[in-house]
Amino acid sequence: MKVSKICCIGAGYVGGPTMAVIADKNRDIQVTVVDINKDRIAAWNDEDLNNLPVFEPGLDEVVGRARGKNLFFSTEVDKAIDEAHMIFISVNTPTKTYGKGKNMAADLKYVELCARQIASVAKTDKIVVEKSTLPVRTAEAIKTILYNTGNGVNFQILSNPEFLAEGTAITDLEHADRVLIGGDETPEGQEAIQALVDIYAAWLPKERILTTNVWSSELSKLTANAFLAQRVSSINAISELCEATGANVNEVARAIGMDSRIGPKFLKASVGFGGSCFQKDILNLVYIAKSLGLEAVADYWEQVIIMNDHQKIRFAEKIVSTLFNTVSGKKIAFLGWAFKKDTNDTRESAAIYVADRLIDEQAQICVFDPKVSSKQMIDDLNYLQSRDRKSNQNHLNVVGDPYEACKDAHAIAILTEWDEFKEYDWQRIYENMNKPAFVFDGRMILDGEKMKEIGFKYYVIGSEY
Ligand code: UDX
Ligand code: ADP
Repeated sequence: MKVSKICCIGAGYVGGPTMAVIADKNRDIQVTVVDINKDRIAAWNDEDLNNLPVFEPGLDEVVGRARGKNLFFSTEVDKAIDEAHMIFISVNTPTKTYGKGKNMAADLKYVELCARQIASVAKTDKIVVEKSTLPVRTAEAIKTILYNTGNGVNFQILSNPEFLAEGTAITDLEHADRVLIGGDETPEGQEAIQALVDIYAAWLPKERILTTNVWSSELSKLTANAFLAQRVSSINAISELCEATGANVNEVARAIGMDSRIGPKFLKASVGFGGSCFQKDILNLVYIAKSLGLEAVADYWEQVIIMNDHQKIRFAEKIVSTLFNTVSGKKIAFLGWAFKKDTNDTRESAAIYVADRLIDEQAQICVFDPKVSSKQMIDDLNYLQSRDRKSNQNHLNVVGDPYEACKDAHAIAILTEWDEFKEYDWQRIYENMNKPAFVFDGRMILDGEKMKEIGFKYYVIGSEY
């Protein structure tokens, strides 16, 4: 079966970049990305490619090449579903904040709504592809909804998890290590798998396109993220040991990473991992294991999250204890709010939790981030519900200039590894700060020796202070 029309429901960090690359590489396929959020769609259609709602290096060029030709962004969800042969579900699946599985299970209400909408609109056979990160066996739930509420239409459900990392989404898509496609082992299932394989084969070598059954595909996504997050928590655990003993975590990471069985990637100690995937996927894994009565499995993976929470709080507490056990009324500058560099995404960013802890101690936080809006930062803090909106606003000030952020500050905390931070005039920053001038480098990006030469009291994750 040759697919000529694709619809993607959800124009977010996953749906937008993924569909842009699929359209760019398959000029004979019409790709329509739909979303209920009108502002988001308007931003995707903005003539000025600098205003796209998702910031990703290279995304503007890809969208610029395909948009209006075979790539479209629209709010007409029903029309796009009706016309498409293949429908990707790329809506958000946040962790549940209520009811059974609160703070642990994925909230599938958006996915379920999509399935119901597809069922009610579809008049011809469709291949439905789950792209959002979902707990194992979600495809089964989607299938049940489609088969029991549809109008006799045939559906094939595929799982095609996304492995792109934010900030490098376009390269990750264009040069994917592997693409995973799970489908039914029936002849119709295999035909649907082949249709999706053909789309990716337009630019990826066939041997990188793996096909499995649906459940293996779903579980592989959770497992991949759990393993990556586990590496970060493992090195972060060692970072605390290094700080207490005088070892240097970078040196340890380098030494162990040269063992080809361990490998060098994802061994960078930091103030803690963030992002929309790691925590959510591990919590999902934990929830599934618990539901199946596998307590030891659940406890094992939960420890990765516990270590990560500890790392964020430990960083905040280091700031308080170093600043003579009080930050009340003191200005603390934050450089960076995004969960990593080269993205405007802040979901689960360590900065939010560090700020929250410092505001508990009545600090005055002043933030500069090259890509994150002040509204987003306040929303992030409010989402934690630690205090009322007004108090958050009174304690969090956002500025558009890094030098202003650091002026008169007692300490600077580096929360995101934006490259530009390394290029700042640190001498000038030092001169305009309160003394002693502290820098807490949660991302190990600055040259410690140089910082000390200038006069800073420099603290970095993972080595003796
Ligand atoms: C992750 C997976 O990498 C990707 O395959 C999946 O599709 C989605 O989840 P993402 O969350 O976008 O991608 O970013 P990633 O680069 O994995 O970083 C996650 C967090 O871990 C960031 O906060 C990052 O700063 C942190 N991290 C990563 C470290 O602290 N140290 C490291 O060595 C690597
Ligand atoms: P992700 O990182 O998984 O891409 P985002 O939150 O960035 O998550 O994007 C998900 C998008 O899905 C949002 O823009 C949201 O408006 C959209 N969405 C959620 N439910 C629906 C729905 N039923 N129909 C269309 N779009 C939806």
